[in-house]
Amino acid sequence: MTKYVIQGGKPLHGSISISGAKNAAVAIIPATLLVNGVCRIENVPQISDVTLILNILQDLGADIRTVNRTTVDIDCSHIHNARVPEGLARQMRASYYLIGALLGRFGSAQVPPPGGCNLGGRPIDQHIKGFVAMGADVDVRGGYIHAQARGGRLTGTTVYMDIVSVGATMNIMLAAALSNGLTVIENAAKEPHIVDLANFLNSMGADIMGAGTDMIKIKGVDRLGGGTYSIIPDQIEAGTYMAAVAAAGGEVLIENIIPKHLECITAKLEEMGVEVEDREDAVLVRRTGTLSRANIKTLPYPGFPTDMQPQIAAALCLAKGTSVLTEGVWDSRYRYVDEFRRMGAQIQVDGKVAVIEGVERLSGARLRACDLRAGAAMVIAALAAAGPSEVSNIHHIERGYEDIVRKLSGVGADIRVVVTPDDGQAEASAG
Ligand code: EPU
Repeated sequence: MTKYVIQGGKPLHGSISISGAKNAAVAIIPATLLVNGVCRIENVPQISDVTLILNILQDLGADIRTVNRTTVDIDCSHIHNARVPEGLARQMRASYYLIGALLGRFGSAQVPPPGGCNLGGRPIDQHIKGFVAMGADVDVRGGYIHAQARGGRLTGTTVYMDIVSVGATMNIMLAAALSNGLTVIENAAKEPHIVDLANFLNSMGADIMGAGTDMIKIKGVDRLGGGTYSIIPDQIEAGTYMAAVAAAGGEVLIENIIPKHLECITAKLEEMGVEVEDREDAVLVRRTGTLSRANIKTLPYPGFPTDMQPQIAAALCLAKGTSVLTEGVWDSRYRYVDEFRRMGAQIQVDGKVAVIEGVERLSGARLRACDLRAGAAMVIAALAAAGPSEVSNIHHIERGYEDIVRKLSGVGADIRVVVTPDDGQAEASAG
């Protein structure tokens, strides 16, 4: 078993460079299925979810060539197979983008139901509603979602989303890019990765307008051709390191980011007494004094992101006063609370609301990551705590954070990767 061993209580100083955005990469990579020619994708994060989605494309027959550490060439021109093999697709959430992309390319898709973090129920009814409105028959049988466009090609229409869904908005964009006519998505999600997917598709020849607003118009085109595209920086990775500085103290320059995407996070950190200075493509984050309490409700963008809720909670555990967190997106995103309590945090959860009574200090403990962002939050709590901690189940964290140990070590954190002797291996690496 591999785990992180963290000696807490050290303020962080230095700079951290942010990688490409996970939730953009896991949509843009499947989007290459729609393209006839080579897509050169730059700023690809080296995380296990990206490896998985690339492996799925390779299994389907894509020609994939690594150009350098963050650049990959993907050519899906020769794929003739719309059935995704079962094993890998069930290990990740974003495999649902294969339905929209394959349906758009072949007029048919057979994809196993997606996996991903356990955050309560994660239906995909809004994705399916969109495909059906565009003329597809969709049913689930034999462990697969089968989608088939009547007449072999989807037809543009207006789709009104009953709830704001990142995944459904992107999936309908994928399905519509090569369809017949105009598709309008109303009540669309507005996250930066939605704009990024639209920019990627447009740069390959699609005709998409309005991404980043709540109405997106996609005029279907006959063909997309190859090109080069660079993925945006990861808003949540940046926010996670900002929260780490808030919790552990110190001063860190977070580089290679788009400060505008971080405004919702910056505003809350400032309310908590953290200094945040915007630079052109960086933010300087400084925390010297005591943290103040804050109330936070997670909402779709530009609201405070649900994917930052556990990390900000780690900092609020050490803030002066009582903070109230309201989870506005997922049914169950407080599974980390029991682990925090073992460090001395005082948190009460009632449904979607958590009340955090700030304490003077947290103490190190053995922690088990239960999902991606919860795992990152445990790392943050451990960095701020007095004494040593261990965080296990780190495969959750490595799904979404490139080189987290190296990046944190680079700003003075005492964090090491350790492989426990029970599986016969010695310490793997230290950072
Ligand atoms: N929902 C439905 N029906 C649908 C789709 C969504 O009821 O058809 C509900 C969900 O149950 C949830 C809400 O709508 O309550 C929002 O879900 P959304 O579809 O926006 O989430 P997602 O596309 O499944 C992506 C990210 C998540 C992130 C959410 C919200 C990826 C691969 N995942 O999920 O990221 O929390 O958007 O921003 O892009 C993470 O990175 O840690 C993560 C969980």
